[in-house]
Amino acid sequence: MASSRRPLIAGNWKMNGLRQDGVARAKDLAARAGKAAPKCEVILCPPAILVQTVAEAVKDGSVAVGGQDCHAKASGAHTGDISAAMLADAGARYVIVGHSERRAAHHESDGDVRAKAQAAHGAGLVAIVCVGESEAQRDAGQALPVVEAQVAGSVPDGATPKTTVVAYEPIWAIGTGRTPTIEQIAEVHGAIRKALAKRHGGETGFRILYGGSVKASNAKSILALDDVDGALVGGASLDAAEFWGIVESC
Ligand code: 13P
Repeated sequence: MASSRRPLIAGNWKMNGLRQDGVARAKDLAARAGKAAPKCEVILCPPAILVQTVAEAVKDGSVAVGGQDCHAKASGAHTGDISAAMLADAGARYVIVGHSERRAAHHESDGDVRAKAQAAHGAGLVAIVCVGESEAQRDAGQALPVVEAQVAGSVPDGATPKTTVVAYEPIWAIGTGRTPTIEQIAEVHGAIRKALAKRHGGETGFRILYGGSVKASNAKSILALDDVDGALVGGASLDAAEFWGIVESC
């Protein structure tokens, strides 16, 4: 982690939890974080229906809330979808876009993800744009070109470090207990930073998170890398103590 960029630890709860355990977990984390912001920014991304409840549960502290997805359009005939403005209205400040689970299950292309990130920016939300290669792509030696193409296609023109965070989540590391080597993470994060700097006018202030089987026990060595500015955490974010262990690794 470079000191010029404030680290960010985000918990992606995915489709887990009901109101009672969501609120209990959020309050537990808010109490640990306290009113003064810890060394890193902490955000929770609950299921959409819990965004408002969780935002209310943490409102007096330093923990922020994000959505897990938003629609690219501001409003209209999109049954079951949620706009970025609705998330903001419910108390979110961030939204994850382009998670590999949505790219796969909802056939989201880089263009779709870019449009969602733009919608997020339009509503005043910080977009957390996810990228990451499959195991077959890595085995074929294609991890870097795949990720670079996703960054080029998914991050909108005009993105800035204030409006946009990139999360590198190799698909094969998500929920598997397997992580890339430290060298592999460093290589991909370095390439993402270079690509962002080239396209966005030499800007190196973008925060780039690592995601995929991050736990309290492996967070320290991952977060110690210069180009890793935080973590996007799935399974381990469902346990307040484990998630806090990751925050403390900052
Ligand atoms: P796990 O931490 O469960 O591997 O999930 C990572 C992830 O997909 C976060 O968005």
